Amino acid sequence: MLVTGKEILKHAHENGYAVGAFNVNNMEQVQAIIEAAEETQSPVIIQASQGGLKYAGVEYIAGMGKIAAEKASVPVAIHLDHGTDFKQIMACIRNGFTSVMIDGSHHELEENIKITKQIVEMAHAVGVSVEAELGKIGGTEDDISVDEKDATYTDPDEAARFVEETGVDYLAIAVGTAHGPYKGEPKLDFDRIKVIKEKLNMPLVLHGSSGVPEESIKKAVSLGINKINIDTDIRMAFHKAVKEFVSKNPDVYDPRKIVGPARVAMKEVIAEKMRMFGAAGKAWR
Ligand code: G3H
Ligand code: 13P
Ligand code: ZN
Repeated sequence: MLVTGKEILKHAHENGYAVGAFNVNNMEQVQAIIEAAEETQSPVIIQASQGGLKYAGVEYIAGMGKIAAEKASVPVAIHLDHGTDFKQIMACIRNGFTSVMIDGSHHELEENIKITKQIVEMAHAVGVSVEAELGKIGGTEDDISVDEKDATYTDPDEAARFVEETGVDYLAIAVGTAHGPYKGEPKLDFDRIKVIKEKLNMPLVLHGSSGVPEESIKKAVSLGINKINIDTDIRMAFHKAVKEFVSKNPDVYDPRKIVGPARVAMKEVIAEKMRMFGAAGKAWR
């Protein structure tokens, strides 16, 4: 069942859980996500990054997403992750995405507001929901010191103004996570999540969620996170399964035999995340 991002995240916001938003680049990842969602009866978001769109093409990602959503008994939204380009956002919407992210976080506040507002007006006119980012969620490779990190976190008052002026449907906040594999254990600013949720009373998004310990994820969800982005943990499950298969079966050259076990491994990781996020059993019809 294909739904908008707004519908899926409104339900999560009102019922106190988080929807997993999993990055896809190929068919096996899409299938792994849908199988996990069916198994756990979870609403789910399939999302593609700039890199994902470049690799597979917007038509293939949208096509696979739409087929998956139509076949699924659970609610599914198709989302553009970290959109930056107006044309690309338009192409996603035209191809059937039901949610887009405009990531203007690298701009100054006023410019971020301006760009986000334009996308919101255009997307809402055709019934598509919008995520924006305030604060800076970098990569684990960025090597930002703890003091510097604090300055990149989302300011609650700025967030209130940002949402009011842009009309965005859900907001990605910078609270201590980063994209990619962590070197140490990430420390989340839980007080900040709480304050932002109280001020905004709307769905909040956590990026860079791979490798965040279960207790931290659960606490973040209890404080108001409703969309949790996972990419790296799926990549790692894929890599481990393919590596294991190829090292045990170096002469097997059938792609289905090589990638099939990876699809199962990704499904298991995804289903575990759905349970962790409190999404299991929350699907509606
Ligand atoms: O937000 C970042 C995602 O992990 C996507 O990364 O651009 O390599 O697909 P990617
Ligand atoms: P991870 O790769 O760290 O899970 O981050 C995913 C993400 O935030 C995609 O937008
Ligand atoms: Zn991200």
